[in-house]
Amino acid sequence: MSSTTYLVKGVSVVGAEPTDLLVRDGVVLEAGASAQNAQVIDADGLVALPGLVDLHTHLREPGREDAETVESGSRAAALGGYTAVCAMANTSPVADTAGVVEQVWRLGREAGLVDVQPIGAVTVGLAGQHLAELGAMATSAAKVRIFSDDGHCVSDPRLMRRALEYVKAFDGVIAQHAEEPRLTEGAQMHEGEISARLGLTGWPAVAEEAIIARDALLAGHVGARLHVCHVSTAGSVDVLRQAKAAGVRVTAEVTPHHLLLTDERASSYDPVFKVNPPLRTQKDVAALRAALAEGLIDIVATDHAPHAMEDKECEWAYARPGMLGLETALSIVLDVLGPDWPLIADRMSRTPARIAGLTDHGHLPAAGAPATFTLVDPAARWQVDPTASASRSRNTPYAGMTLPGRVVATFLRGEPTVLDGKAVK
Ligand code: DOR
Ligand code: ZN
Repeated sequence: MSSTTYLVKGVSVVGAEPTDLLVRDGVVLEAGASAQNAQVIDADGLVALPGLVDLHTHLREPGREDAETVESGSRAAALGGYTAVCAMANTSPVADTAGVVEQVWRLGREAGLVDVQPIGAVTVGLAGQHLAELGAMATSAAKVRIFSDDGHCVSDPRLMRRALEYVKAFDGVIAQHAEEPRLTEGAQMHEGEISARLGLTGWPAVAEEAIIARDALLAGHVGARLHVCHVSTAGSVDVLRQAKAAGVRVTAEVTPHHLLLTDERASSYDPVFKVNPPLRTQKDVAALRAALAEGLIDIVATDHAPHAMEDKECEWAYARPGMLGLETALSIVLDVLGPDWPLIADRMSRTPARIAGLTDHGHLPAAGAPATFTLVDPAARWQVDPTASASRSRNTPYAGMTLPGRVVATFLRGEPTVLDGKAVK
């Protein structure tokens, strides 16, 4: 194989002393290998992280290519420092068969910007009535290991139990959107002081906490793996603490927006802040940050949820929930956690790669490892311009904000997908 050799000069790998990285044929070479004809990347002052891995991305293809495609979402991901994304199943048609997950997987390969790992639906059509073809999706070319009805909760406990039993056989995982539907009928935002003041129907914290508690008990009973999507409340952190202490095989994610924003934003009635689960209170935000630092919440996942203009620029009640996340996640996490590079590498790459079983990802760029990494300028600050996004949608809640940390380059198995802060293709 002959590929370009890259010499990344003077880079600080996850905050360690500056070093050089020589990249060829998809891997990082031993120090001292010949750098002849290498393309030099001046990485003075830059930090190298293992390529980021997003466990929760909505790519909208097939079905809503006006909002996002596998290719446009992949480009946004690469620009955000990601090398792998797990694509949620709530497309149209739903990714509930081997055919659809293989289609998404193939589109990801064709785009070639990040590894796109499809997530399969738990139930047919996300309708919560019958188990989807989990086995056929697992043995398909897409090798699905994560199943989720995200957007909807698998609320029937018997179906949830069956799904956990089924995936246990191949060490799969059920990623639950924890929302007790009877407690959130008509909900528009977090249930609390602000919803009362605005007169909007509330989404109570207990609707999330009750499902996490139930599913932790079920997962413990079955001995299967449970992953909790977008944890948003302080009470959920307490439930996770108990479940983990009891030895339940449970992992959890938090989104950048739940680490930064609160329900106060709903006062603007700007639907860009409408999301499911909703933005919570400052107390919840503080608990989520502490739980992420402690490792009780295992990872950051974006829940990147692109929506077309007509689905967002309307009255709050009619707007779809969800916000963009891929291009801003690292900067938000840097803002929230500070430049704790080992922590960021763990929560945004190593652990999500492990949960998803993506063995090419999550490794420090070191001799012999896949050259799958991202270079970040921690000193740079940039202003979020929705019109400059690689996404087909514009619904970022951070428009106009100045954020720390800029992705300078992203490498996937030795090939740059981003150079000088620009997508390579
Ligand atoms: O805000 C959300 N948007 N939450 C979900 O669970 C689904 C997602 C979407 O698909 O837009
Ligand atoms: Zn989602």
